[in-house]
Amino acid sequence: MRTIIEPFRIKMTEPLKITTREERERALAAARHNVFLLDADDCCIDLLTDSGTGAMSTHQWAAMMLGDESYAGSRSWKRFEASVRAITGMAHVLPTHQGRAAEGILAECLVREGHVIPNNSHFDTTRANIEYRRGIALNLPCAEAFDTEHIAPFKGNMDVDALRRCIAEHGRDAIPFAMMTVTNNTGGGQPVSMANLREVKEVLAAHGIPLIIDACRFAENAYFIHEREPGYRGRSLLEIAQEMFALADGATMSAKKDGLANIGGFLACRNPEWAERFRSLLILREGFPTYGGLAGRDLEAIAVGLMEALEYDYQVYRHATVEYLATRLGGLGIPMVMPAGGHAVFLDARRMLPSIPPLAYPGIGVVNALYLAGGIRAVELGSVMFGHFDGEGREQPSPLELVRLAFPRRVYTQSHFDYIVEVMEEVWRDRARIPGYRIAWQPAMLRHFTCHFEPLAR
Ligand code: F0G
Repeated sequence: MRTIIEPFRIKMTEPLKITTREERERALAAARHNVFLLDADDCCIDLLTDSGTGAMSTHQWAAMMLGDESYAGSRSWKRFEASVRAITGMAHVLPTHQGRAAEGILAECLVREGHVIPNNSHFDTTRANIEYRRGIALNLPCAEAFDTEHIAPFKGNMDVDALRRCIAEHGRDAIPFAMMTVTNNTGGGQPVSMANLREVKEVLAAHGIPLIIDACRFAENAYFIHEREPGYRGRSLLEIAQEMFALADGATMSAKKDGLANIGGFLACRNPEWAERFRSLLILREGFPTYGGLAGRDLEAIAVGLMEALEYDYQVYRHATVEYLATRLGGLGIPMVMPAGGHAVFLDARRMLPSIPPLAYPGIGVVNALYLAGGIRAVELGSVMFGHFDGEGREQPSPLELVRLAFPRRVYTQSHFDYIVEVMEEVWRDRARIPGYRIAWQPAMLRHFTCHFEPLAR
């Protein structure tokens, strides 16, 4: 087979700053050893997130010039709404400035104290929005999700028996809706199968519980279904996405991922009563319902981007880049979540640094070592991001200590990935020197973004 090439060429460049180790040591210390507090200019290769960091196409930039900035009823809104409707089949579309704004509106309208919201795995902002309403955000991932070495095609699936038990335990009235996150970001960017979505929908429908899809990476999920689930080879990614959304009553979306845009999102639903409640809050928090939190040009970029994300050749290339890095790192013996996810490679920091206990944050050790060795910025998805405090105030670790190398869309080329492999090789070779960390200061919520760390003596 021939090399899978980027199905685009580059006509605008953005310089990267190459730094020395001494400069990076100074920058990381000034950032209190938390890479979220670094200046982006000091990060040579920024794999912090795939959210809003992608490169737009010529078609998107051209569409932006057609942006209609009318307050109400703009052409750009019509195009945005048509794109979202074509994919989701949902009558009511509410534009928001990003995914968490859609989650906030959903939670504020539907979640009350003591409500339980099951999900294959909540992302941090979804969890925080539900907990802010004093609801309980429950993760029900399938059993394979916890075994990072186990190879299975759809490790993002929900444990359907656990969902049945959850409904039996809490009762239908305590569950205003359930969610399915596609792909399952927290669980390693792993996909959800159509069969699992269908089964979850059947269980929920039997109890009259609505299903909301957290659709950030719906196109990557559709690609995995196309490649891995029997019966989907002959179907277009758009058709697969339509079939996924046909099972849902609503969707929250961050267009910063599979909208291939730098900002934006939406909340969509079928139920007109929900839509009316959502819309009132949208006006209060985001803006008039035909622009939400967005400029007309943003609506245009998203309308085009959502469809580009469903182009098969683009997904083939995107997945090839993730596979390439995973295969090279696997060749070095570096432990990671297998198989590789849709938008990222997830290193298994617990297995990389077995002598560092979870509450000394091995994931932060790996993240900071990567930065110091090569200016690569990754993110911890472990006990700092997902740990919690029990009733007695004792810190409880996360079941997994992962480090995510997220791939901005259409941004880095193969030589960048070769450089990442070289830096990783060095980090892996010198891993005995990587320290654990303690938290010197933390805020009450979403601590990973702003907390301060101190390295522990080795
Ligand atoms: N849901 C999932 C599964 C996400 O991954 C994100 C964002 C959101 C919701 C919230 O969307 O950022 O537009 O408000 N994830 C980014 C990440 C931040 O790095 O994984 P948002």
